[in-house]
Amino acid sequence: MKVLVLNGPNLNRLGTREPDVYGSTTYADLVELCEAEGRELGMEVEVRQTNHEGEMVEWLHAAADTSTPVVLNGAAWTHYSIAVRDACSQLTAPLVEVHISNIHQREEFRHHSVISAVANGVIAGLGVEGYQLALRWLALKK
Ligand code: DQA
Repeated sequence: MKVLVLNGPNLNRLGTREPDVYGSTTYADLVELCEAEGRELGMEVEVRQTNHEGEMVEWLHAAADTSTPVVLNGAAWTHYSIAVRDACSQLTAPLVEVHISNIHQREEFRHHSVISAVANGVIAGLGVEGYQLALRWLALKK
């Protein structure tokens, strides 16, 4: 089974970006962590990141057309992008929303996610390990 792990804006800056909030794991480390988890679970895991909303929307369209499960950290788009949410609504395989930080403990504008209502589940606040847990759940569902 193939799984896409899609990351939104600024997540390429992991490790240097606000380490007190997001930790010291770099984006390259995150990619390796997800790929290693995939190998353990016998799944092909492809990890991508973009700072361009249209690119994310097109990746989600392709996932919808191929029934590919998605782990999505929409980053800031989580809180306001109806375009990303509408693309998520079209997915035909499971969708897990992941946030490294606990968005509910942070600024009020982060408390609402426009994605959550169309995701199968949400993992927030468990650090980068949240991605591993999301992949494990997808492996159980296959
Ligand atoms: C984030 C939380 C978002 O509020 C923020 O905009 C991000 C990262 C997280 O992983 O904790 O960029 O999605």
